[in-house]
Amino acid sequence: MSDAVSPSASALSRRSFLKGIGTSALTVASVQAGALADEISKVSGPQPQGPGAVPVTLTINGAPRQFNLEPRVTLLDALRYSSPLTGTKEVCDRGTCGACSVLVDGKLTYSCMKLAIDAQGQKITTIEGLAPVGELSPVQQAFVECDALMCGFCTPGLVMAVTSLLNENPHPTEADVRHACSGNLCRCGTYPHVVRAALKASGAEAPAQFTVTDYGSLA
Ligand code: FES
Ligand code: FES
Repeated sequence: MSDAVSPSASALSRRSFLKGIGTSALTVASVQAGALADEISKVSGPQPQGPGAVPVTLTINGAPRQFNLEPRVTLLDALRYSSPLTGTKEVCDRGTCGACSVLVDGKLTYSCMKLAIDAQGQKITTIEGLAPVGELSPVQQAFVECDALMCGFCTPGLVMAVTSLLNENPHPTEADVRHACSGNLCRCGTYPHVVRAALKASGAEAPAQFTVTDYGSLA
């Protein structure tokens, strides 16, 4: 009897072998692709969210608040339209007037220029968080005593700007105050009184009277 393998048996054997190799290669490739996708997602950070509403948790005035917001919603709109905290004002809604100023991790921030979803994990302080209900912070008290508001629409933003300044620099000069408030517009022209209020809140001596022209550069 001959030991030679018939051509058809040999061909079958080669096909089976190649098929086996192909299946193994595919399995290895798919495992590697999965591992690669895992690595890419780790490197590329958070997955895209939205466009529908997603759960958002914000720490506002020391307490967590739950929201359900589309990722495109600004911090200003979240405060004003999805919470009772309407003290933060909306005027230009484009980062120009400062009426929407809040503190984010202690830093003065235009809330109309920040997405609410990006403020997660940060400490947000609004005008309502400066003093317990029914009381005034020293800056708010100084604004009242110095008559530093007329219509009051810009006032929360200016109070936040002055508060931020005094947190960083408890003894500012008049020039420091003017610079700190230069991102806040007041259509009623209360600037001289705002400067007086800021200096009074700092405990510094302030001239009894300012004129608008003295502080025209604020406008
Ligand atoms: S409303 Fe945000 S800067 Fe004017
Ligand atoms: S008090 Fe009216 S805009 Fe400033």
